Amino acid sequence: MEYAQLLELAVRARDKAYTPYSDFAVGAALLCEDGAVYTGGNIENAAFTPTVCAERVAFFKAVSEGKRAFKAIAVAGGKAGAQPDPLVAPCGVCRQVMMEFCRAGDFDIILGDSAENMKVVRLGDMLPLGFGPDNLR
Ligand code: THU
Repeated sequence: MEYAQLLELAVRARDKAYTPYSDFAVGAALLCEDGAVYTGGNIENAAFTPTVCAERVAFFKAVSEGKRAFKAIAVAGGKAGAQPDPLVAPCGVCRQVMMEFCRAGDFDIILGDSAENMKVVRLGDMLPLGFGPDNLR
């Protein structure tokens, strides 16, 4: 799948985000090595800390279905009900979750709001010197 198309799925996934507290809707679309795509929106909680970001929702959906190999994730976010912001980058916790399942050198993170405004960043550039499974081998 083209990255522009993956980003479009992330933009659409924002529609299903549950954001009564921040009113900031994020969507993510995760592309597996086998071509399958899992989407997610952020899910907030009245107690705040149980809130889960869109990226982790997408990862946990995929991992819980048995997926273990991933190629890229697209992320889009902004005020709920409005057009996405030009660039929203994954939070540190989500970067760490990516580090668990992806090789920092070849997992792509696609940021932007449309095919015309799209940036591709490697996980290793988003999370330099990251700690991951290799450290415990
Ligand atoms: N959020 C995400 O879903 N992904 C990110 O990469 C950044 C932040 C969510 C968490 C919370 O529901 C809202 O955006 C405001 O922080």
